[in-house]
Amino acid sequence: VRTIAVISLKGGSGKTTVAAHLALAAQLRDLSVMVADTDPQRSIANVLSARGGAAPKVVATAGPKLLSVQMAATGLAKDLLIIDTAAGAVDDVGEAVVLCDLALLVSRPTLLDVAGLAPTLSLARRLGKPTVVVINQAPPPEDDAESPLVKRMLRAFDYMKAPLAPVILRSRAAYQTALETGRSVEETPDAAAAAEIAALWDYIWVRAESAAARVALSAP
Ligand SMILES: Nc1ncnc2c1ncn2[C@@H]1O[C@H](COP(=O)(O)OP(=O)(O)O)[C@@H](O)[C@H]1O
Ligand SMILES: [Mg+2]
Repeated sequence: VRTIAVISLKGGSGKTTVAAHLALAAQLRDLSVMVADTDPQRSIANVLSARGGAAPKVVATAGPKLLSVQMAATGLAKDLLIIDTAAGAVDDVGEAVVLCDLALLVSRPTLLDVAGLAPTLSLARRLGKPTVVVINQAPPPEDDAESPLVKRMLRAFDYMKAPLAPVILRSRAAYQTALETGRSVEETPDAAAAAEIAALWDYIWVRAESAAARVALSAP
């Protein structure tokens, strides 16, 4: 099972929104997906339970139980396990990163978020995990030019050598309204939001598969 840990030690960056959208993207592409919810607030469990019909299976759990959840996902021949984590939960985040093929860091393009990214980034680096940073809740470009705020933050990410995903998720109402009924923006008329998630999915899935393949090659 390919395992993706969605992390950030900062709250409100959009971990649950991104985790739910990736889980739904997998489901919409006929992959078998399981979600491990380690946030005691159970946000992703609530969001995905609002979905009628086929929904990704969500397991409410905690860091120390993640290994058995991952083994269960393997036993059930799941293609993908997505771990949603809570802000500030250093131990749970550590366990999620240890078990993942790919660590996905979510950050808003603001000074506070970018500064708060450093500890999360160094945790993933210490554990030697392939890491991707996705910028979320960015203001849309103005007249096709990136906003000055985003430009400045892109420079900060560059200083940190943050491995940025090639797609930036913008602040869009569709991300909120879609999840109210457990839907992905790919299932709404917001074509711009749908394109962002489709591009993020394509990139993340390739990265997760190649990371998992490297692990398999290095096994005895
Ligand atoms: N791209 C986006 N556009 C608009 N609102 C967003 C976006 N991403 C997240 N949000 C909103 O921001 C808030 C925090 O997002 P959430 O996914 O719960 O963050 P986290 O899980 O990191 O705490 C929620 O109200 C969510 O609806
Ligand atoms: Mg959350």
